[in-house]
Amino acid sequence: MAPLRINPSILAADFVNMQRELERISTADLVHVDVMDNHFVPNLTFGPQMVGRIQDVSPIPLDVHLMIDDPDRWAPGYAELGVYSVTFHAEAAADPVSLARELRARGARAGIAVKPGTGIEPYLDLLEEFDQVLVMTVEPGFGGQSFMPETMPKLRALREAVEARGLDVWLQVDGGITEETIVTAAAAGADTFVAGSSVFRGEPAERITALRDAAAAHAH
Ligand code: DX5
Ligand code: ZN
Repeated sequence: MAPLRINPSILAADFVNMQRELERISTADLVHVDVMDNHFVPNLTFGPQMVGRIQDVSPIPLDVHLMIDDPDRWAPGYAELGVYSVTFHAEAAADPVSLARELRARGARAGIAVKPGTGIEPYLDLLEEFDQVLVMTVEPGFGGQSFMPETMPKLRALREAVEARGLDVWLQVDGGITEETIVTAAAAGADTFVAGSSVFRGEPAERITALRDAAAAHAH
């Protein structure tokens, strides 16, 4: 079985107590940081300065999810902060392959994300260029929405391609992940799970363990 990762999203954290919130999720694998520009999505969160400070104080590495226009211009700057991974949206990037190469050249893992309505077929032949693929399981922009099971065929296609070609590409899901829906996503082939409200609503360390156990019981 491939290793599994649980990445809590600090979109659901208390923003004015961020350092304390980061400590509450220190048993997770990575911190998922949702960058929103109020253009690509109708919501506004963190910019590079805040991401840099989160990186300074976080006990675990950062998984940055850029929901921004023109990532070709802005994403490399996030990689330069020294974060672990930078994921940009396929719908927003002019040249996803060149951008992924730039991110890797700056020392970050390169990720590509697709919204629920965006097909994955054009990217299946390009998987070698990426370290992770993020299949959005809600419309990006807000936490607390319901998981969309109709996105699961994309994960199955990705898992099949990754296995067939022996690739080490992480398959991530983001949106509406709970102890119930994580089972569906794990069975479809996901190995990296972003969870915001389901982690921060309860006691985060307990919720992280429960998510990990539920995913492990159904993973590939
Ligand atoms: C949504 C963000 C998610 C969000 C998930 O656009 O990309 O990372 O924080 O939140 P939950 O887990 O509450 O759906
Ligand atoms: Zn996200």
